[in-house]
Amino acid sequence: MSDVDFAAMETRFGVPTYSQLPLTLVEGSGCYVTDSNGERWLDFYGGHAVALTGHCHPRVVAALREQTGRLLFFSNAVSSDVRALALRDLASTAPAGMSRSFLCNSGAEANEAAIKIARKTTGRRKVISMEGGFHGRTMGALSATQMGHYLSDYAPGVPDHVFIPFGDLAAARAAVDTNTASIMLEPIQSMGGMRTADEPYLAGLRALCDETGTLLHFDEVQTGPGRTGVWWYGDHFGVVPDLISTAKGLGSGVPVGAVLVRDEIAERIALGDQGTTFGGGMLASVAISATIGVLRDEDLLANATLRGAQIQDGARTMPGVAGFRGRGMLLGIVFDRPAKQIVAGLRARHVLSGTTPGDPNVLRILAPLVVGDMEVDAFLRALHDVLRG
Ligand SMILES: Cc1ncc(COP(=O)(O)O)c(C=O)c1O
Repeated sequence: MSDVDFAAMETRFGVPTYSQLPLTLVEGSGCYVTDSNGERWLDFYGGHAVALTGHCHPRVVAALREQTGRLLFFSNAVSSDVRALALRDLASTAPAGMSRSFLCNSGAEANEAAIKIARKTTGRRKVISMEGGFHGRTMGALSATQMGHYLSDYAPGVPDHVFIPFGDLAAARAAVDTNTASIMLEPIQSMGGMRTADEPYLAGLRALCDETGTLLHFDEVQTGPGRTGVWWYGDHFGVVPDLISTAKGLGSGVPVGAVLVRDEIAERIALGDQGTTFGGGMLASVAISATIGVLRDEDLLANATLRGAQIQDGARTMPGVAGFRGRGMLLGIVFDRPAKQIVAGLRARHVLSGTTPGDPNVLRILAPLVVGDMEVDAFLRALHDVLRG
């Protein structure tokens, strides 16, 4: 317990860009976080889809502690034992033929890198992305983001970005031309209302890209790795993209980003084409390896599927529940009314969840993949209580 008003201090000294919950968090463990008053909260928002292995997973913390005493940082100007291991571990999760990665620091940066790789390796310029998509706040990623005010406030964006309706294969076919470098999409538009790409759509995009020499780029900043029950979303259907950008949960809370690149594309990348000082740093690297190790050894991909199904089974008949979107532990519960009040009701019961700007009726669940029976029960009880009014 502290007498200091940290929330006021943050407001005073930070630029006013975030709308914050009246909550100062000081600790976390598994699916729970603790506030500055010592009260515990069930975190079904996963620290913004980041706490993939839970808050402060002991194996992640131990790996970081150990590395902190060895070497904090040296850049990609030299080779590193832990960076090599992180790259190898990432490759062990990737679809066949996708064994190379570029390491960076965030989702937006991963998308920037993927857009640049697409432009450079195809020699083309146009990037097609989806209406309702969200790819990050830097100018390139933002130029591929068509949602609300995110881009319009900063227009014009980077040239040669075009948008098509999500899920519309004919629109993709009509938009692709000989100058198209890539088609870029989130397999689940998390911010966009949890709209979910199905197999025919993704397979159709793959075939279209193959026909036209266009790169297929999945933004898996939220869906990967493992959150939907497979390492990477295309694994559900055997669809392998050319580029996968990822971040958020990959470091269990340490800032990381990565672009997984199909081997034959990686061979077309030349020295100096892309770079970043901090990407593949030592702490980030051990965080990646520990995260992948925990996901694999604790069978957390299967758990994502199991717990997602349990939540759907438990919530299906609750008053006001109109359906579900998403997959595994990237789950949207669709209500017959705006979800904002329901999220507030859950918060009043010390359960954190989210809304989505793309569809006001959707409640978003991004729980850590270590979620168990007890947490699912607690969530469902709280939801039932809220909906009963
Ligand atoms: C699908 C997707 N892509 C990219 C980003 C940007 O990631 P970051 O905030 O790490 O730059 C986000 C962030 O929410 C995201 O959800």
